Amino acid sequence: MEPGDGSEEPALPLALARFQLSEEYGSLLPEPLTELPAPYGPWMEIAHNLPQLITSHQLRSRVHQVPLSFPALKLSQRREELHLAHLVLSFITMGYIWQEGEEGTVKVLPRNLAVPFWEVSQALGLPPILSHADFVLANWRRKNPNGPLEINNLDTIISLPGGESLRGFILVTLLVEKAAVPGFKAIVEAVRAILQLDEETLCRALQELTEAIRDMSKALKQMHDYVDPAVFYAVIRIFLSGWKDNPAMPDGLIYEGVSDEPMEYSGGSAAQSTILHAFDELLGIRHSKESAAFLHRMRDYMPPPHRAFVEEIRRAPSLKQHVLSSRDTRLHKAFNQCVSALADFRSYHITVVTKYITIAATKAKAGQAEPGGKSGSSMGKPPSALEAKGTGGSHIFSFLKSIRDTTREGMINA
Ligand code: HEM
Repeated sequence: MEPGDGSEEPALPLALARFQLSEEYGSLLPEPLTELPAPYGPWMEIAHNLPQLITSHQLRSRVHQVPLSFPALKLSQRREELHLAHLVLSFITMGYIWQEGEEGTVKVLPRNLAVPFWEVSQALGLPPILSHADFVLANWRRKNPNGPLEINNLDTIISLPGGESLRGFILVTLLVEKAAVPGFKAIVEAVRAILQLDEETLCRALQELTEAIRDMSKALKQMHDYVDPAVFYAVIRIFLSGWKDNPAMPDGLIYEGVSDEPMEYSGGSAAQSTILHAFDELLGIRHSKESAAFLHRMRDYMPPPHRAFVEEIRRAPSLKQHVLSSRDTRLHKAFNQCVSALADFRSYHITVVTKYITIAATKAKAGQAEPGGKSGSSMGKPPSALEAKGTGGSHIFSFLKSIRDTTREGMINA
């Protein structure tokens, strides 16, 4: 079976490698490439200078100088090359659109950028906008190639304004992805154990999943150490914003040379990460219609094999039914602990969002926030179009609280 087509019956046993997921890296791209072949030279050069080009208002004119060519066709079609090309072109596109803030957007992405970006996106099955797969999954390198996957040994490949806070935001999110890796393995074990009616292994898999979710919460806490809320709110966030459900770009964006009609895409958000979608499917969490519709739309922003993994779990035999029909109280307990850890992660995430968006917005309005030197940005007024909405376009708090509450409701009465 080829991952990606949602119609087929599940071909078990489930194996991570079939979905471009790995036992070592989960959904992170293993050891991403950092350089592209020669035809991409002009784009790489721009990408490596993005923060300066944006803050000095020169990015748009630099983009206009790049000759129209079709470098996507010259890539070897290696997955790593395509991902790096998507990362580079998506960051340049976000910089191009938001260089002048939310009041100076453009309606058209020029042909020389739009056409290669579209082609690379088609080759990967990703949308032509920055997604979580670009921002985090493909955007990391080890400083010491033999050193560990720890924040002091990590850096981003491509950056945007926001200095150390931008780096911290990307890398802490990466650490959450890394903490989730044992969770992916536990899912596979759990699905196999259900099929084999092996309660012992199922119990152990659920305990491992609980541990992984708790470790994700611990990793998320590091946001406070590395990301300044004022810089996140006033400088970074706008560059993740999309052109769907965004009052700053109500008409979408024309990709010149691709279509004369404007297209709408949501901005980058960790709602596009595979992890929680996979956990929800395994645990049989059912969100409200509206929240589920948003989350399902976010799946279109995942690499297609990862999306197929989530679908495969959804079609696997129901864990919840299995636990409900079992008399094993240890299993009931292990299941509920898992659901509870997931609800706790979501509660903690709400606390983080409150600090980085709501409180930061209030302070910015009151003129108390001073990103100054840390951001290296000369931007003035903080963006307001997405004050109550996420970069993915959701109504932040009603959405996040509804998801947290429906998660808790997923517990079973022992
Ligand atoms: C400063 C840090 C963060 C902020 C301000 C933030 C903000 C948000 C917002 C506003 C949403 C609503 C969806 C949207 O429209 O974009 C969201 C959703 C989400 N975020 Fe974050 N986020 C942060 C960090 C993280 C990290 C590190 C992760 C871990 C991978 C994460 C995982 C998620 C998930 C999974 C959702 C979808 C809702 C759910 O399934 O619970 N977020 N986030």
